[in-house]
Amino acid sequence: TDIPPITRRRALLAGGMAGLLPRPGAGHAAPVQPMTAQPITLRIAPTTVELAPGITRRVLAYDGQVPGPVLRLPEGRPAWVRVTNGSDAPELVHWHGLDVGAVPDGAAEEGSATIPPGGTLDYRFVPPRAGTRWYHTHTMAMMDFSRAMYSGQFGFLIVEPRRDPGRHDREVLLAAHHWDGALPGIPASPEFCAMPRYRYATFNGRLMQAAEPVRVRQGERVLFRFLNASATEAVSLALPGHAFTVVALDGNPVASPAPVSVITLGVAERVDAIVHMNRPGRWVLGPTDPAQQTAGLGRVIEYAGATGPAIWTPPPISDWDYALFGGPAAPPVEDLRLDGIFPMLFERRLTPDGMEGWTINGRSYADLPPLHVRAGGRYLFRWINLSGCAHPLHLHRHHFTILRRGMRRIGPIEKDTVQIGRFDTIDALLVADNPGDTLFHCHHQMHMDYGFMQMIRYS
Ligand code: C2O
Ligand code: CU
Repeated sequence: TDIPPITRRRALLAGGMAGLLPRPGAGHAAPVQPMTAQPITLRIAPTTVELAPGITRRVLAYDGQVPGPVLRLPEGRPAWVRVTNGSDAPELVHWHGLDVGAVPDGAAEEGSATIPPGGTLDYRFVPPRAGTRWYHTHTMAMMDFSRAMYSGQFGFLIVEPRRDPGRHDREVLLAAHHWDGALPGIPASPEFCAMPRYRYATFNGRLMQAAEPVRVRQGERVLFRFLNASATEAVSLALPGHAFTVVALDGNPVASPAPVSVITLGVAERVDAIVHMNRPGRWVLGPTDPAQQTAGLGRVIEYAGATGPAIWTPPPISDWDYALFGGPAAPPVEDLRLDGIFPMLFERRLTPDGMEGWTINGRSYADLPPLHVRAGGRYLFRWINLSGCAHPLHLHRHHFTILRRGMRRIGPIEKDTVQIGRFDTIDALLVADNPGDTLFHCHHQMHMDYGFMQMIRYS
């Protein structure tokens, strides 16, 4: 079930401050050509996935594999994906990070259709921008976490750029996932942000011990596309002896690619990083958290001809600071010509069933009124996390631009998901350029199920 590395050359162009300036009438209307081609097909069905010999799990998956097939769609060209639901409950596929319409987006709350058991649905959209996106089930939002939590329904969706300037020799796709958390019989704990919730952790559905190494050659530049497809856990990754040059966050090129030794991905985040292979040997690309390493997360990176044990020398603990990649600091709030500011205060509360619930400005989803925006408007989210847990915040069908973290104004970082730390604050600019109902939610499975979600509505 491993995704083979794909040899090709392409690069990511660094973006600038362009996204910050008002875009007159910005939309996503690429010319739609008549559709003559066949659809890409995906079939949802129960599958047995083998994490390692003798360790199998029965999950729902796409096309019988975990992760699902890598979808590669050309930027700006009509895409057509036909999904068949071979499971026994309604399903939805969400195209995470694609700025598409509310109908194909795949969230029931936004008005997307569900696919009945045995049914088929065509998703048609035009992927507006190149980058590392992904797809996954959105039944997670339907208070159904026992079904979605350890689902195998996720896969890479790579939107290919029109032009390919070529900055790497090889691509390696690695999707992290955690298995077995909310096992029947394990009592629910109210301490969601402290309790270990997994037994196994994998890249591409395979424990490190049981996976083929990733084979590389000296001198190659390898583009790693990392996806954290976990329902609950953040991951921090290192490759001893090598530096990651981060070129894109959530698939969006960064203004100043810079080398780091540790990369952190909150749930649902992606990082694209180029590694220059110049230290022959066998190395472990693994998590800095020993518990996740014990659980099987990692890959051996093997240079051609190298033998011997794989080396793991964890780097010194360092903070993941994506501000490094943002370039010059963004303008102050007063200069942004905003149409509104949305302060959003995140807190936790105990629900009547003794579980931890989550509130935005004192209320939880369904009770929370939508935030209203108008098409073309510019708004600032001011996220303030007083909940005591970190949260991967995600906005559907749009990107937001982070301009401030804590007390610090930073260079613009364009993302669709961001992990907000405990007691952290983030200012993020939203350009409301994609009309239709839009979900904002924490991507932590249980936080979302317990209220951490709000609708953004165009008026
Ligand atoms: Cu990755 Cu609401 O989703
Ligand atoms: Cu959360």
